[in-house]
Amino acid sequence: MIRLTVNGVEHTLDVEGDTPLLWVVRDVLGLKGSKFGCGAGLCGACTMHLNGQPIRTCIMPLSAVAGQNITTIEGLSPANASVQQLTPVQQAWLELNVPQCGYCQSGQIMAATALLASNPNPSDADIDNAMSGNICRCGTYPRIRSAIHKAAG
Ligand code: FES
Repeated sequence: MIRLTVNGVEHTLDVEGDTPLLWVVRDVLGLKGSKFGCGAGLCGACTMHLNGQPIRTCIMPLSAVAGQNITTIEGLSPANASVQQLTPVQQAWLELNVPQCGYCQSGQIMAATALLASNPNPSDADIDNAMSGNICRCGTYPRIRSAIHKAAG
């Protein structure tokens, strides 16, 4: 049995310790907002927070995060939140229509949220540096950068 807290809820999981966290969250806990892209830690689609820091969950074994706090895109704001209840990053994403196909965007939002938590007023270079590991095939990078500036206020 492995204990894990996800979005503030503690779980005791009967899952093999080498199972990637992404699949535990998606298939065991049923939280599908985090996506599978490359499966090799290269694209960022699977990004969640481990104690507030962004991590690649497709290559993170469950045993490595046992007993720790995980936040997924579903945990950033309440279920069925009104716009006012969304985080500043989520609101900026909506206002600037950042997503195109949307597949990478939960990972983008998790990375952006972690960036702003550690650097509340990032420069363009800070943003590019922090976000460079989150790949978007639609090329929404200019809107991502604008939304991060907007969320920074
Ligand atoms: Fe995890 Fe690409 S799916 S980094």
